[in-house]
Amino acid sequence: RSRRGGSAAAAAAAAAAGAQWAAPAAEIARRRNFAIISHPDAGKTTLTEKLLLYGGAIQEAGAVRSRADQRKATSDWMELEKQRGISITSTVLSFEYAGAQINLLDTPGHQDFSEDTYRTLAAADNAVMLVDAAKGLEPQTRKLFEVCRLRGLPIFTFCNKLDRPSLSPFELLDQIEGDFGLQMVPVLWPIGDGPNFQGVLDRDTNLVHLFERGDRTGRAKEMGTLELDDPELPIAIGETLYNQLREDVEVLEGLIEPLDMAKVHAGEQSPMFFGSAMVNFGVELFLKRFLTLGQGPAPRSISSGGNAAEQLTPEYPEFTGFCFKLQANLDPRHRDRLAYIRVVSGRFEKGMRVSHSRMKGRTVNLTQAQQLFAQDRESVSEAFPGDVIGLNNPGVFAIGDTIYTGARRVAFPGIPSFSPECFAYIRNPNPSTYKNYNKGLTQLLDEGAVQLLRERSDDGNGSPILAAVGTLQFDVVQYRLKDEYGVETRLEALPGFNTARWSNAGWDAVDAAEADGKLFGIFQAKDRFGRPVLLFRNEWKLQQVMADLPELELVPWAAPP
Ligand code: G4P
Repeated sequence: RSRRGGSAAAAAAAAAAGAQWAAPAAEIARRRNFAIISHPDAGKTTLTEKLLLYGGAIQEAGAVRSRADQRKATSDWMELEKQRGISITSTVLSFEYAGAQINLLDTPGHQDFSEDTYRTLAAADNAVMLVDAAKGLEPQTRKLFEVCRLRGLPIFTFCNKLDRPSLSPFELLDQIEGDFGLQMVPVLWPIGDGPNFQGVLDRDTNLVHLFERGDRTGRAKEMGTLELDDPELPIAIGETLYNQLREDVEVLEGLIEPLDMAKVHAGEQSPMFFGSAMVNFGVELFLKRFLTLGQGPAPRSISSGGNAAEQLTPEYPEFTGFCFKLQANLDPRHRDRLAYIRVVSGRFEKGMRVSHSRMKGRTVNLTQAQQLFAQDRESVSEAFPGDVIGLNNPGVFAIGDTIYTGARRVAFPGIPSFSPECFAYIRNPNPSTYKNYNKGLTQLLDEGAVQLLRERSDDGNGSPILAAVGTLQFDVVQYRLKDEYGVETRLEALPGFNTARWSNAGWDAVDAAEADGKLFGIFQAKDRFGRPVLLFRNEWKLQQVMADLPELELVPWAAPP
């Protein structure tokens, strides 16, 4: 693409000039990363498992689940995941396939965890939208799609579970196009569904891939391929499906624009695939095409240290990266904290010294880095653009921080978060555990899953209030405080309030509105940094206040100062 043009030459020049931290062009070129977005139950775990199988990262299907089971056995916190049957943590899974290095950023599907997912998408270069072909678009898919669109991510669509009775492929195509205004371009086209599912047509090669219904664990046996024009085809798939396929192909040719890489990368066109993760139809075909169509490590805009519109490319001859996620106590036996860093440019090397965007004049030594496979870790000594590394975090890194080498100061823009919609007082009834309570709460807050507000009070010591996107987050915090810090807490709902707005105008403006009697029925709180946050009972009240009091400058969230 044009905006990346010239950077390879720049990198070559930099390398020639002996730039120590420039990433080799070949390492950049072979990296692809993506996140899967889907509604719970669409088959994300199953698809992930099959993809890892092709990558040789696991030996047998079922391993992701059994690993998940193992980790559930080793950590009580994970017990909560098991009880709820949901995935709470997100991890990065890396594997090699056909010479490419693929990083799969795993995101939790439950809606209460969209906060975490949101940040993970900030580290992704591509999104794979997984749709249950029987159900079509579901609420969580829609919400996550909006996030991908905001971030301008290329979106690949995989319609799953074709081995079950499904909506017609045209119906799925129309639904997604209609709802999202995204041009769908089928790359694979299904032949039949449910018990009649016979395989897929690759529209690029005009080859029909026939599949045998294999066992649901291993690689599906491919029965081979037949040309669309092969006289054997009607015999192989049956006259009825053959005639249907012919008709479909004609309609598609008249209807669908050709695939255009630039449009895919701009998030305007979505390559569309059909298959079944469970019986492994179409998964490898998808993976292969993803490698050629997916966007490589993308450039990022930088918010300072250059002009506002400047994009920093992976070829920039210094190491840069940003922190998009923190996690404490990944392994409950070690009280550790990890900061997940997305490498944007250059080369990471174990032991290197980097500057930190928030700490002027201070450097940090990156001694320990880990790559994560679910809960298992492997030490990494090198990483390149598009990779995610986990760094031990003795409280140095916060979400949104940038680290970099070189004299030039670099800072990537902060990562926005969803506005909280659930609020509850948190109480620690046992004063003797105060120290642990404080420590635990601080660390969990650093992870960013919940925010802490305080009720406004004259002495500045108002009751603490947890604020999150969904109430499940509260359960997680309570559970982990007990499990990891030995502190029992009580939660008391703050009923009726479901919207938060930060006032950018500060306390004087809030006080003036209060003195005019205009904040009746609105809850006043302050965030961790002492800034005013107003809680509303409904959208109507919020709209009224926004219209009446523009001077409050209400915004849905505020970045850390
Ligand atoms: P998730 O991570 O998106 O929540 O979905 P997950 O992979 O756990 O899949 C949800 C259910 O859908 C699972 O069934 C899974 O086996 C099934 N599934 C996934 N892909 C396909 C597919 O291509 N075809 C069919 N027919 N089913 C699929 P389950 O009954 O909840 O679990 P299990 O007993 O099968 O493990």
